[in-house]
Amino acid sequence: MKKGKILVIGSSNTDMTVLTQRHPKPGETVLGGQFRMGAGGKGANQAVAAKRLGGDVAFVCKVGNDLFGDNAIHHYEEEGLDTSGILRSDAPSGVALITVDERGENAIVVASGANAEITAADIESIRSRIEEASILLLQLEIPVAAVQRAAEIAHGAGAYVILNPAPAQELPEALLRHISLIIPNHSEMYLLTGHDPIDDTSTDAALQTLHAKGIKDIILTLGSRGCVVDQPEQGTRVTIPAREVRAIDTTAAGDTFCGALCVALSEGKSLEEAARFATLASSLTVQRLGAQASIPFREEVEQLEPRPTT
Ligand code: ATP
Ligand code: RIB
Repeated sequence: MKKGKILVIGSSNTDMTVLTQRHPKPGETVLGGQFRMGAGGKGANQAVAAKRLGGDVAFVCKVGNDLFGDNAIHHYEEEGLDTSGILRSDAPSGVALITVDERGENAIVVASGANAEITAADIESIRSRIEEASILLLQLEIPVAAVQRAAEIAHGAGAYVILNPAPAQELPEALLRHISLIIPNHSEMYLLTGHDPIDDTSTDAALQTLHAKGIKDIILTLGSRGCVVDQPEQGTRVTIPAREVRAIDTTAAGDTFCGALCVALSEGKSLEEAARFATLASSLTVQRLGAQASIPFREEVEQLEPRPTT
């Protein structure tokens, strides 16, 4: 893989988060606790994670011509991201309504707004930026047509193309054939393969099903159960346990994992080494409230003692 530049193309949201003892059932109102507004969106979280953890990162998203959009761009500049490719729309900036229960589990509804306005033509207009990247990191909070175009261009230019297929949805073959590494969580893996990875047998079936769709490298993230790094061409499948920590809000755990992984890969680490670094980074995120508010910096990860591995 070429070392160097990481490009993240994806969503930018403002997160409105309420802590609650339990999530409401349909039709029910519950009285929650603390409210917080903060920067979020899977694309933005992953870009910020990669930057805080030491990457050379550019971020492309689409925000509205509104206060949330202005604030978001200002924030990304302060984070040190290359924001020169950020696009504007007349649609409102993306917003996510989040509840976090007492176990730290979240439930999220996204009003995509401007995120849903990113087109394949927009992606074509930033072709040269995509061709400069050595790693392209994508998620599914923007239209699949845009994701597919970006993957095609990057793959054609020899980049390592990583897809975090979140939120879960079915994916066209025409996209999958340009993906070098896919990083689904438990429920995304179930939707993509029909196999619920609850034990070794079903995990194996799920991984085989995804490989059969043409994807070589897979990292299946399993929350507090850690992750599985599967590289059949290398003949390796390694389970990396999560660190034992007290999770108070898992929002952006997966995003931190993806951003951290890209940084380690861009520094020439192996996929397994990168996943170990990502495991450390995301263990910090789950111990803090919020999305970007909870994403750690490089020094914090380097101070952690890695736990024994299987
Ligand atoms: P999110 O909650 O952000 O949607 P996700 O569902 O995309 O996350 P997970 O599989 O839940 O992704 O978590 C990604 C990684 O974060 C895990 O592989 C693990 O390393 C770490 N992680 C998640 N939850 C915990 C936890 N409770 N304790 C320690 N580490 C965790
Ligand atoms: O992955 C977490 C993110 O999902 C939140 O920041 C929220 O904006 C939603 O997009």
